[in-house]
Amino acid sequence: MAELKQSRPKGTQDFVPPDSERMRQVEETFRNLAECYGYREIVTPTFEHAAVFVKSSGETSDIVTKEMYSFKDRADRDLALRAEGTPCVVRAVVENRLRMPCRLYYVGPFFRYARPQKGRFREFNQVGVEALGEASPLTDAEVISFGNAFFESLGIRDCTTQVNSIGCRECRPAHRAELRKFLLERKEQLCEDCKLRIDRNPLRVFDCKVELCRQAVKDAPTPRQYLCSACKSHLEEVLAGLDRRGLRYEVNDRLVRGLDYYNRTTFEYISASLGAQDSLGGGGRYDYLIEEFGGPDTPGVGLAIGLERTILAAPVTPATARRHLAFVVWLTEAELGAAQDLGERLRADGIAAQVDYDARKVKGQFKSADAAQACCCVIIGPDELAKGVYSLKDLATGEQREVPSSAISAEVRTLFRE
Ligand code: HAM
Repeated sequence: MAELKQSRPKGTQDFVPPDSERMRQVEETFRNLAECYGYREIVTPTFEHAAVFVKSSGETSDIVTKEMYSFKDRADRDLALRAEGTPCVVRAVVENRLRMPCRLYYVGPFFRYARPQKGRFREFNQVGVEALGEASPLTDAEVISFGNAFFESLGIRDCTTQVNSIGCRECRPAHRAELRKFLLERKEQLCEDCKLRIDRNPLRVFDCKVELCRQAVKDAPTPRQYLCSACKSHLEEVLAGLDRRGLRYEVNDRLVRGLDYYNRTTFEYISASLGAQDSLGGGGRYDYLIEEFGGPDTPGVGLAIGLERTILAAPVTPATARRHLAFVVWLTEAELGAAQDLGERLRADGIAAQVDYDARKVKGQFKSADAAQACCCVIIGPDELAKGVYSLKDLATGEQREVPSSAISAEVRTLFRE
């Protein structure tokens, strides 16, 4: 057979133990918290019709123009690996005619074709919540503080919450016109992308990372200066909701976010420990999106958080050296049957147990126990079998003692507690 040596595709990762376990723990923390706020899980396909993203994330957004994994299937359909969750959730909510209001959360892989670097991958995992059918600014405040509660529960402290409002259909046109005028006057200083943005989507210029563009828009008119009175009071109430919770935040006039569907509130969590890709998560309000997907006029607000970045920012908890796993060691072929039975008995008692059926030598079995990071070995030899006992070896201390066979599960459990 030809050699099948391959590395993983660029921008992807393998999660091997214990990283895979850490990932699951963080996911569990998120699920419990989301359910605590009344959200229920939604699972949508990992690929969608490409139009789902083009129509919602925005025809001119980076996600759609540069980063989408789009492909044609064998029946010539235009599909795309999902680049973000919000459009998928909204599509599913409309298609399944879910009753409003409706709080949903999701966990899973997403795909963006971007240049891989620290904290930026082509396949990454997001957790997110979407509160649909809730118009109150108090929901925005609760969603924002939900993100903070999640980071806090993981011990992430260096996280700054930035909040802004980008207005609504009423007040945006006036801002857009002023911003366009401002940018046209400085067109020559802008990068090629931003030159195109002037007509297509001038707000996006605020998102440009090119230093000259940043300089050029330093004094540009911001959406907040143009808010109508309804948007102004919405923002004030969001901030009051955050104050009420004692949450620290910054109002960032330039926070417009790279997606087209937002109106009013936008927010982002920034971590100082992440380097260039410093956004741990973000979100905002999207009161027009459900209607754009053919649903009834329904408001919405939500957030998504990147798990890889969250794990990078979280303090490293010292890996528990040994797992709550008992390794059954047999001395001669005569005890192999008893070893199998003991494995099953421990599992029936709720104790994780493993038996090395391949190793013919005791030393090899102890090596396997060590590789598995088991916390103890339960040894069965001819003597033990004759006496009706097991030898229990604590692999952390090296101590070994005989235990009556009837008491083995209880004795193993005492080692788990330490
Ligand atoms: P987003 O800002 O595009 O928002 O992504 C949210 C988070 O996903 C980012 O802050 C980051 O932590 C993570 N992320 C994004 N791209 C990558 C990548 N290439 N590698 C690693 N992590 C990444 C959204 O996706 C919106 N759907 C959020 C939302 C929900 N708005 C309303 N509801």
